[in-house]
Amino acid sequence: MTSRSDVIVQAAPVVVVGSGAAGLACALALAPTPVTLLTKTPLPDGGSSLLAQGGIAAALGPEDSPERHAADTLAAGDGLSDPQGALDLAVEGIDALGSVIAAGLPVDREADGRLALGREAAHSQARIVHAGGDAIGRNLVATLLARAAATPSVRLRPATLAVDLVVEAGRIAGLLAYHRRWGWILYRTPAVVLATGGLGVLWRETTNPAEATGDGLAMAARAGARLSDLEFMQFHPTALLPKEDAGGARLPLLTEALRGAGARLIDREGRPVMRDSHPLGDLAPRDAVARAIWRRRAAGDEVYLDLRPALAARGPSAFPQALSLCRDAGYDPMSEPVPVAPAAHYHMGGVATDAVGRSSIPGLWACGEVAATGVHGANRLASNSLLEALVFAERVAENLRRAARQARPQTWAPARISPPSVTWASEMMPPARDRLRALMSHHVGILRQGSGLAAATEALEELEARFDLRTGPRKQGDRAGFEDLRSWCELRNLLLAGRLIALAALRRAESRGAHFRSDAPRRRGDWARHQSLTAADLRHSPLAAQSVQSAAREGLT
Ligand code: FAD
Ligand code: SIN
Repeated sequence: MTSRSDVIVQAAPVVVVGSGAAGLACALALAPTPVTLLTKTPLPDGGSSLLAQGGIAAALGPEDSPERHAADTLAAGDGLSDPQGALDLAVEGIDALGSVIAAGLPVDREADGRLALGREAAHSQARIVHAGGDAIGRNLVATLLARAAATPSVRLRPATLAVDLVVEAGRIAGLLAYHRRWGWILYRTPAVVLATGGLGVLWRETTNPAEATGDGLAMAARAGARLSDLEFMQFHPTALLPKEDAGGARLPLLTEALRGAGARLIDREGRPVMRDSHPLGDLAPRDAVARAIWRRRAAGDEVYLDLRPALAARGPSAFPQALSLCRDAGYDPMSEPVPVAPAAHYHMGGVATDAVGRSSIPGLWACGEVAATGVHGANRLASNSLLEALVFAERVAENLRRAARQARPQTWAPARISPPSVTWASEMMPPARDRLRALMSHHVGILRQGSGLAAATEALEELEARFDLRTGPRKQGDRAGFEDLRSWCELRNLLLAGRLIALAALRRAESRGAHFRSDAPRRRGDWARHQSLTAADLRHSPLAAQSVQSAAREGLT
């Protein structure tokens, strides 16, 4: 047991977890309310936002309208997108984008000063706003970070890992974190905003950065929050395959904007891959393209992306990242097509929230990829996620401020808390993580089937049982052990998130959007609904019940 004196206790009106687009935008929108913003990486690194290439969707073209944008969002969502949410996203997104442009986002413009609008799959109009060609993410995060650094109410706390939520009397009372140098910190706070991003690391092939380990989802699950749409994981069709096996490292993304500008998917003989697979060809919805490529590769064929038509049409300066990613991997995209494969990319599911980002636990809010707002349904429309992050961050901030004015002051003080402590050897973590990722890729990937999902749920349960949730890595308490503690926490979170996703996928006995079951390949009317779960649904495991109750909460007396 760690005594209270080992833990720094700090009061904070609001704690935001995550320094991606959602977390930064939310902290800024909360000003002048003081916000403590934690992020587990050093700044400015961390998160998927930085890596975004395609752009931000906004209905700004002469033929476009928010209604059209919403209609495309609903079509991609395959019957599960919330119509009002989709329309609100399209309408409010225009203002949200306007605000970041006013704050300095250097968007690409035509010679006459109008915004240059690109095209992406499943968008009926050209409506993708770019910055620095294919570098929207870097530019957006730089713009938001510069504003945050100049906003006194935002206290940035890099290298601080959020570990668990503290729930008292059914509502948020705090958050337990670990700082690289200072060690354990208990934030006493009535309001936590999760903006922790996605969980692509659960699969062996992913476009996501190493920190996308589902921490927010798992923390919320352990605290008992309702989760929704967990089975819907989007696989991006065109991750660049390196010449050597990537060994599970992040695969570079080749943006869909390339296909929007004319790049073609071809086989070894140069024949178009999508011609007979979908009427929209290379610009078919992302799930259809990903499945077509997956099937070809499973049959032993390679699939290539020929960037040359796009580079000829738009010029190399439109795609600086794509060019350098290809060259870094040893390819010359000006003279040869490059090999591609689908990779885990975006989680539509997450912490279930209402229209303003409130979770089922009072005081717990979520925005960005970790949230399931219902807008994306079973499949997200390309370039709608940065937009959603900006719009819902704003909504959370507005409503949280209102809630904070009505909140009663907190009176509790923790007598002692029990952060996870000692025994699991850190050298056992990488094999467990590899096994988890292999299971998810094999059974809970692009093509799923009931028997595989059932096998995965059991195997994951066993794996979790071997990984003792009551204890932490051997070096706990040793302040030099931040990386060990982080790996341990991430593995614990990945295991819980993986089990929940496999269970949700097993239960949804149909195919819809990004969730494809070869044993139930059609949509079913009785499944035209969201599926919500809590960690208590994993009731087979004796450890599940413990994992529902956060470690921090158990120790409060
Ligand atoms: P993130 O940007 O992922 O940020 C999460 C933050 O939480 C990080 O700072 C991380 O360090 C922190 N964090 C996580 N766990 C903890 C913890 N336990 N303690 C402390 N901090 C923690 N979407 C688009 O709309 N357009 C695009 O062009 C586009 N391109 C993409 C390209 C790539 C390669 C990828 C991977 C995604 C792309 N997406 C795109 C999706 C989009 O980038 C993400 O959905 C979006 O950026 C998520 O933003 P976020 O703020 O929710 O999370
Ligand atoms: C891409 O650029 O292809 C990814 C865009 C997105 O995920 O929205």
